[in-house]
Amino acid sequence: MNKITIVGAGRVGESTAQFLASRDMCHELLLLDVREGAAEGAALDIQEDAPLFQFDTKVSGSNKPQDMTDSELIIITAGIPRKPGMSRSDVLTTNVKITDEIVKNAMQYAADAMLLFVSNPVDILTYRGWKVCGWPRNRVFGQAGVLDATRMASFIAMETGFSALDIDAMVLGGHGDSMVPMIRYTTISGIPVANFLPQKTITDIISRTRNGGAEILALRQNSSAYDAPAAAIATMVDAIVHDRKRILPSVAILDNEYGHHDIAIGVPTVLGKNGIEKVIELSFSKEEQVAFEQSVTMVKKDIETLKNL
Ligand code: LAC
Repeated sequence: MNKITIVGAGRVGESTAQFLASRDMCHELLLLDVREGAAEGAALDIQEDAPLFQFDTKVSGSNKPQDMTDSELIIITAGIPRKPGMSRSDVLTTNVKITDEIVKNAMQYAADAMLLFVSNPVDILTYRGWKVCGWPRNRVFGQAGVLDATRMASFIAMETGFSALDIDAMVLGGHGDSMVPMIRYTTISGIPVANFLPQKTITDIISRTRNGGAEILALRQNSSAYDAPAAAIATMVDAIVHDRKRILPSVAILDNEYGHHDIAIGVPTVLGKNGIEKVIELSFSKEEQVAFEQSVTMVKKDIETLKNL
């Protein structure tokens, strides 16, 4: 890929930039932030480790939206983070104004780009971004499930003592308290996790996964998670720039998949050079169906809130 822009030089944006640059995922990487100097400083700091990490990516920073011109992928991390005790929905009113502006800039300067939303509440902001730009849904999507799944896989590794390399976890639904960890599709070297852990432990892992972002926020107090989120973003970007056709959960606009449309929510997708190339439909158990529908209801409630803003 030639050019990727990351909007928001906060911790998630900067950490993502470091991952993308150090893996040479594009020729030109731009960090954009409204705060003067913030993106330039972060970009220079990363560029200076190029000889050590051995990459050629040109990393630059700017506070001018026109500098995103010709970007093929725009990663949106800007917005206010939650404070301890806040839900992701609590930051909606502020963050929607910020992401609306970014989407409008993208329409003006990089109308062929893909938009990858990360700012929270990510399902709602992805939906809103898609409504604002009107681009095909394969080019407008969000990151949530890769992060939630890596958290669940890590908790399973901690509980079982087995290598994290062999654990494949799946988490669908909205990126919030109603997310849907899919235990039936979570395996260790292809073996369902229920073979290794008692139900009580699995139940605890599910709630720890749902609470994964809040757990880190409560510990740090003044910062949300950023290392695992950045790694999750980099995983999606890697699938896109290398046209890998990986099956990863994305926040996708549904068009009658899972019986819903006009909503963005976490579902398994095929990620390749065109962004979301396919939404994969799974058959749910009764319990999974109920959990997914509850998640849909929560996301729709926030989408309704959008209409009054
Ligand atoms: C989290 C935030 C980034 O889950 O949503 O850590």
